[in-house]
Amino acid sequence: MSQNPSDILTHCESGVMTITLNRVDKKNSITAAMYGAMADALVQAEADPAMRAVVLQGHETVFSAGNDIGDFLNQPPATAESPVYRFLHGIAGFSKPLIAAVCGPAVGVGTTMLFHCDLVYAGDNAAFSMPFVNLGLCPEAASSLLVPQMFGYHRAAEALLLGEPFFAEAALEVGLVNRIVPPTEVNAVAQGAARKLALKPLSSLIETKRLMKKGQAAQVAAQMAEEGATFGRMLREPAAREAFGAFMEKRKPDFSRF
Ligand code: COA
Repeated sequence: MSQNPSDILTHCESGVMTITLNRVDKKNSITAAMYGAMADALVQAEADPAMRAVVLQGHETVFSAGNDIGDFLNQPPATAESPVYRFLHGIAGFSKPLIAAVCGPAVGVGTTMLFHCDLVYAGDNAAFSMPFVNLGLCPEAASSLLVPQMFGYHRAAEALLLGEPFFAEAALEVGLVNRIVPPTEVNAVAQGAARKLALKPLSSLIETKRLMKKGQAAQVAAQMAEEGATFGRMLREPAAREAFGAFMEKRKPDFSRF
């Protein structure tokens, strides 16, 4: 499995840290090492007073295919300190503005991480999906709480039970994205917003974000913990084994026995 330090790139300029998913040959699927690198980058951005906003971006053809399936099977997250959970807690608790630039497929955590971003810009080729049920799993990143809240229950059921993809216009309509722009412009638009934020008083940004989020911070943390425990258990069960085996063998899964 290709896994090297350049799979996650970080760049700091004009008060903005940009974190780039850079594993395009594997559709920016995320390994434990990549989660760890992103979690570390967020800790660094949080601690550095010169960093006033963070941009998360992928490639103009793909944001992320979600968890790297092989890696997940080989080293499933075992504890709350696992890199994936460090990353999810990192984005959920990040005190400074977090901006995402999303083009192409955003699968699984590629979509759920966006619920923890403050601003989301999408290419007109963006395709969001949360196919946890199709993988024999359950939602993560507090998406079982945040998706119904944002979408309304029935549209959430379409996304989370049917696992159907939805596209940029639908994401704009429900409020998941702020703006749709051509894929070649998304990263620049996100960067522009981040730099605008970086010129504002950091203490006001932090307090405003804290006040907007404090009402349900504890609930988000509790939901994430329960999802994490359930997800970890389901990952070892036959339905997920079948789904992941089918993906690796490039065949359709057979859930008739589960
Ligand atoms: N984990 C591991 N490898 C992945 C991956 C993932 N989540 N998603 C894609 N890849 C790999 C493929 O195995 C393939 O590798 P190969 O070239 O060695 O065969 C390569 O990335 C290209 O993927 P491919 O499926 O051919 O690209 P596509 O453009 O036809 O489709 C996606 C892109 C994102 C729609 C599709 O790859 C996909 O659905 N991936 C799985 C997403 C998923 O279920 N994620 C949730 C995990 S919890």
